[in-house]
Amino acid sequence: MPIITNIQDLKKIYRRRVPKMFFDYTESGSWTEQTFRENVTDFSELRLRQRVAVDMSGRHTRAKMIGQDVAMPVALAPVGLTGLQSADGEIKAARAAEKFGVPYTLSTMSICSIEDVAAKTEKPFWFQLYVMKDQDYMSRLMARAKEANCSALIITLDLQILGQRHKDIQNGLSAPPKLSPKTLLNLSTKWAWGMEMLRTNRKNFGNVVGHAKGVTDTTSLSSWTAEQFDPKLDWDKIKTLRKEWGGKVILKGILDAEDAKLALNVGADAIIVSNHGGRQLDGAQSSIRALPSIIDAVGDKIEVHLDGGIRSGQDVLKALALGAKGTYIGRSYIYGLGALGQKGVRLSLEIIQKELETTMALCGHRALCQLSRDTLRIPVGFADSWI
Ligand code: GLV
Repeated sequence: MPIITNIQDLKKIYRRRVPKMFFDYTESGSWTEQTFRENVTDFSELRLRQRVAVDMSGRHTRAKMIGQDVAMPVALAPVGLTGLQSADGEIKAARAAEKFGVPYTLSTMSICSIEDVAAKTEKPFWFQLYVMKDQDYMSRLMARAKEANCSALIITLDLQILGQRHKDIQNGLSAPPKLSPKTLLNLSTKWAWGMEMLRTNRKNFGNVVGHAKGVTDTTSLSSWTAEQFDPKLDWDKIKTLRKEWGGKVILKGILDAEDAKLALNVGADAIIVSNHGGRQLDGAQSSIRALPSIIDAVGDKIEVHLDGGIRSGQDVLKALALGAKGTYIGRSYIYGLGALGQKGVRLSLEIIQKELETTMALCGHRALCQLSRDTLRIPVGFADSWI
């Protein structure tokens, strides 16, 4: 086993271990993948201010996200099909997160069901909701999440129709996997993944199959989205959902300061600046570039979180310094999961925490609450609101 020191090391092992169709699912953006790429590369435009001769003893990364104590302000983002990256993947990721002390978010499009994850974990996790046409199904989904003690509902706003990802179409991506001769050939080289997969009966969308009316099998995320997701979603609907849920609500997929202001009327606990990992509107701004103008517009009225492009603790620090109160990792923990299961998710969290703590100290701080824009060297015109 090679020595693993950073997230890219985990990605290399992940790539060797999982079938190509699931690696491609993770490593896809929509259309030209410009936004997917810039989510990562735009972080490097922000430089750090090195400070010296500052007492670094007693430093820590503890913080709060929506009032919840966290070991560091990095939550595991909702990721569809996680249980196909590694058998029972959602359970493994949720367990790693609870042991580490950060929130885990279960996707509506997970393989393990809400009940399954709740049964195998001790602490409450967060649940992510797609807004569906079938109101009964949605109400039952929320009731199931409440029954499972989920402590926050993340409502995704940027996927009422699916952004086209070429590789997924070419690979015939579906759950359970569609076994074309080419896929079978590739699967046969991934024996460790396959052996684990044979041992679990969790291979389909656990929150959907047998729960949504008339759905006994779901073919693909794209056909399910086209049939079930509600293209009529609007702010009134979101307000109604928040009331129905009754607990903490986080709105995911805000990328524009005008939308951030509209989101304030819903009465949510936080918003997530996100472009769905560059998987929806290709050509949209990267999350880190969109963040400052959203902070300037609403940062004093609501907690603002950032999702997209985080591959290191340095990226986390940059988002926090720009004013985010929390961040999310998706791909960074999926690499760990696919590479080494639950242990790999833990490793990805450890890597990010260590990088975050060291960077914070070398910037002259002992706690994340001391970070500010002053911690960074920001190029002129980095954000809309500063041009
Ligand atoms: C689902 O949320 C996806 O982006 O694939």
